[in-house]
Amino acid sequence: MIPATAADPLRLAILLSGSGRTFENLHAEIAAGRLPARIVGVIASRADVRGCARARELGLPTEVVRRRDFDGAQRYGDALGEVLARWRTELAAMAGFLHLWSVPPALRGRVMNIHPALLPAFGGQGMHGAHVHAAVLASGARLSGCTVHFADDQYDAGPIIVQRAVPVAFEDTPETLAARVFEQECLAYPEAIRLFAAGRLEIVGRRVRIRG
Ligand code: GRF
Repeated sequence: MIPATAADPLRLAILLSGSGRTFENLHAEIAAGRLPARIVGVIASRADVRGCARARELGLPTEVVRRRDFDGAQRYGDALGEVLARWRTELAAMAGFLHLWSVPPALRGRVMNIHPALLPAFGGQGMHGAHVHAAVLASGARLSGCTVHFADDQYDAGPIIVQRAVPVAFEDTPETLAARVFEQECLAYPEAIRLFAAGRLEIVGRRVRIRG
């Protein structure tokens, strides 16, 4: 892959299902000149979410592709893949996207997700938002954090790219822990995308080698 530069930025698409804070952080990183990428479009899994409205306000192309309109993760993946191909997407970043989809062959190794815990712990179906942080607190774990990984066709299971850890305090609630983790998410996702844009990530089986 030819490394992306400010003059030839990475064509980045976003998939979201909610508030869009992760998307806004990536947008801000790009605007600040810290990420050599350009958002070519935003796919929302519902029309009525704040993230989709925000993308429109920012003048970005948006598409709503609802899970319930497709029979199975494969067909849903094909539908998402069609939109991403139309935008000539080089990397798709799931940013609070809640649905499992089967990544079409042409996009394998080109879809990332962020999860608000240190995978492979506290991941899998149903583990999103406050459920994750409540499970971490109930487990007594002293550390939590976030994980950026390549997506495959299972929940939270693909090769891990970047992790950042935070301490867990005895007094934490799911909300206070989520806020501490989110601060690190705002660093980890741009970092992983920068590595991808620089052509430095190589998937080797279940692992990712960071070159250079
Ligand atoms: C974060 O917890 C992230 O790890 C997960 O979705 C949450 C962000 O959603 N994948 P949003 O960006 O606030 O909509």
